[in-house]
Amino acid sequence: MSDTSNGIKHVASPLARQTLLDGQLTRPVAGVKPIRLLPWLQVVKIGGRAIMDRGPKAILPIVDEIRKLLPEHRLLILTGAGIRARHLYGVGLDLGLPVGSLSPLAASEAGQNGHILASLLAPEGVSYVEHPTIASQLSIHLSAARAVVGSGFPPYHHHEFPDSRIPTHRADTGAFLLADALGAAGLTIVEDVDGVYSTDPNGPDGASAKFLPEVSAADLAASEGTLPFDRALLDVMATARHIERVQVVNGLVPGRLTSALRGERVGTIVHTAARRN
Ligand SMILES: Nc1ncnc2c1ncn2[C@@H]1O[C@H](COP(=O)(O)OP(=O)(O)OP(=O)(O)O)[C@@H](O)[C@H]1O
Ligand SMILES: [Mg+2]
Repeated sequence: MSDTSNGIKHVASPLARQTLLDGQLTRPVAGVKPIRLLPWLQVVKIGGRAIMDRGPKAILPIVDEIRKLLPEHRLLILTGAGIRARHLYGVGLDLGLPVGSLSPLAASEAGQNGHILASLLAPEGVSYVEHPTIASQLSIHLSAARAVVGSGFPPYHHHEFPDSRIPTHRADTGAFLLADALGAAGLTIVEDVDGVYSTDPNGPDGASAKFLPEVSAADLAASEGTLPFDRALLDVMATARHIERVQVVNGLVPGRLTSALRGERVGTIVHTAARRN
């Protein structure tokens, strides 16, 4: 709607005359819960280090499991970067490269893992798609195939926040941001451990590590220990709009991913701040 009566073209908008910085003023318009774009979608993040770096003995069983899941679920499979990115961080940091240079390079390693996975699932019609395709054509791809594969890294690239020398927004954060933006049915993170523990089960205090079947993102954020996913994931979980829980499962144990996608209580359930209404 436009009003040209005083010679100036005005575009009617409830936000036209106010700052976008005042939450009180924008709430009547911006406070509405976003719609779920793809409520039937299951997002699965496959660990780069946990699964892909282990080669055939870890990759082939999970590919087999995903193949069998295709008639049941429509999947967006996102891969992590793994060991090649860690090597890249080592070389890049030695050279003093800024985080905004390292982030796109690490993202390309996550993409390589995605290409590998997609090649193995190609007979099922699965292909690797780039971020612009995920952003605007995911729906048509998932009408043609039961699953697509992409890089888990969010494309902050040169805009990566400079609060750390290693990119803070990696594949787990990227997978969650996408799943929440799409209003997906769920996000499952596939690791090489049974879920989240009180401390790294493979670390020096591994013997005292306690398995956490269920935990809130807020409780994990309050503790300083290491996690099997990006710590930045906890920040985005705090402001999630749709994804109420993320399941962390062991991809080295056949059947765990299948159980998680069927809604069974396997692995660790991490509760986010999103609430059903
Ligand atoms: N609190 C914790 N609970 C469970 N595992 C933990 C914890 N802290 C650290 N870990 C470790 O995290 C490891 C998984 O590593 P990581 O998350 O880096 O792999 P990944 O998800 O494959 O990586 P990528 O980001 O490349 O996809 C586990 O094998 C475990 O040893
Ligand atoms: Mg991980």
